[in-house]
Amino acid sequence: MDLSSISKRSRLIVCHLISLTWKCLALVTMVLFLRPVLLHLFSGCGVIEWNNQDLILSHSLLLSSNDEGVRREKFLEVPQIVWGLNNQKIAFARACLTARMLNRTLLMPSLSASLFYKEIDQLQPISFDKVFQFDKFNSLCNGFVRLGRYLDLKNQTGIYDLQKGSGRKWTVEKDMEQLKQSSRGHVDEHEVIRIVGKNPFLWHDHWPVKEYARVFESLVFVDEILKEADKVVSKIRHIGRKLRSKTVTVQSDLNADTEDSSKAAAPFIAVHMRVEIDWMIHCKKLEQRSGINQICSSKQEIMQRVGNIVSSESPTVVYLAVADSLLNDSSILRGWMKGLLPFEKKKLRVDGIYKRHPYLIQSAIDYMVCSMADIFVGNSYSTFSSLVVLERTLKMTRMGIRNSCGIDVRWPSYAYNIPGESNDPQKWMTNMSDSSLQAISYGSNAISC
Ligand SMILES: *[C@@H]1O[C@H](CO)[C@@H](O)[C@H](O)[C@H]1NC(C)=O
Ligand SMILES: *[C@@H]1O[C@H](CO)[C@@H](O)[C@H](O)[C@H]1NC(C)=O
Ligand SMILES: *[C@@H]1O[C@H](CO)[C@@H](O)[C@H](O)[C@H]1NC(C)=O
Ligand SMILES: *[C@@H]1O[C@H](CO)[C@@H](O)[C@H](O)[C@H]1NC(C)=O
Repeated sequence: MDLSSISKRSRLIVCHLISLTWKCLALVTMVLFLRPVLLHLFSGCGVIEWNNQDLILSHSLLLSSNDEGVRREKFLEVPQIVWGLNNQKIAFARACLTARMLNRTLLMPSLSASLFYKEIDQLQPISFDKVFQFDKFNSLCNGFVRLGRYLDLKNQTGIYDLQKGSGRKWTVEKDMEQLKQSSRGHVDEHEVIRIVGKNPFLWHDHWPVKEYARVFESLVFVDEILKEADKVVSKIRHIGRKLRSKTVTVQSDLNADTEDSSKAAAPFIAVHMRVEIDWMIHCKKLEQRSGINQICSSKQEIMQRVGNIVSSESPTVVYLAVADSLLNDSSILRGWMKGLLPFEKKKLRVDGIYKRHPYLIQSAIDYMVCSMADIFVGNSYSTFSSLVVLERTLKMTRMGIRNSCGIDVRWPSYAYNIPGESNDPQKWMTNMSDSSLQAISYGSNAISC
């Protein structure tokens, strides 16, 4: 063996070692690079849940019971559903939960496009599927409740009229007993059970908030309504960006980055302002009857409290979701704190979008705008506000946020009728473990924060 061959071999070994080191390094590097990918894979459910609504809902955090499905050959029929959008949503959810209890498919009910609830002939029936997506509802609510069409009826085993009681003597227990009896025996043999009586909205409540929420989160407006709401929101954001870029040019020496970021984000606040005369009369009566003095808020109180939420100097658009009758009351546009720029439909020039539609759809658009707002402020005694907050709470629950009271969350909601420590409005979220919707939707100062 000569020296050169040894050195050759040792060189080879060295080379081998080096290559091994490289391989190791490469491996380490690869792992480092792949780590986010791997993490992504392992947290896959979470990631997918963010992007795919159907998946979120099939994993819905709300329902623990196993859904074995609802009978497809037995139906429940309910009278036309009336009153405001949110009262209609609640009545619809009650109809669904009643059908579920009877293990029956709910025949798609008529909603009402107008608010003239006192005169039945002016109720303008509108089919459920003109407002909400029918198939989407059934797929999101699959196994829990089911909507059917009149076409599905075989008309062989007849209709049973179930007369609902009313008045003081008709207690929750009696109502429940009646439903239980109707779920078996000769009543159950009928293909259709038809609920008879006025205002199913007034039925007694037997179901926990979670079950209502399961129905609400399956109610997706038809595309036409969603598009109209998108138009309104983009208008609001457009104005917000314009106003911000104006201030930024003045301050641009301070921070060169602000301009870009302000272009991207123009958060807005939606305020469901209930200050119209008939509300004021109603809420004053309510205050007297209940001995609670936190139900009515004046324009000034609302403006002040909303002003106390935002500390930043950047101009922020405040969208005022107000009843039609207030559309031309310009006093609600005056008196806001510096930095808050109030707009209602007319000033925003979106009144044309609303005017094309009947009352129910107008309300639906406003509901969506409030749901999408970065910050929502409402009255805890309003059903509209309560259901907006419920929707926003659900949205956060799906993101894994269980408590949105203290921390700086993405979609905070506030109740302006309940002042916090420094006269700011109290944070508000829906208590999903409440045992009845009554507690959270028909007026309450329990806002779980
Ligand atoms: C409805 O009835 C079907 C068939 O009898 C049963 O499998 C299912 O569990 C029932 N669903 C409910 C919600 O009671
Ligand atoms: C049963 O009656 C409903 C409404 O009256 C109708 O739409 C449906 O087509 C009928 N079904 C059959 C199988 O005849
Ligand atoms: C505001 O609306 C009411 C009722 O819609 C109308 O009578 C009144 O003239 C309007 N006022 C203005 C200033 O447009
Ligand atoms: C939510 O409701 C449940 C049941 O009524 C109650 O026990 C709980 O204290 C409530 N939570 C909050 C934060 O109000």
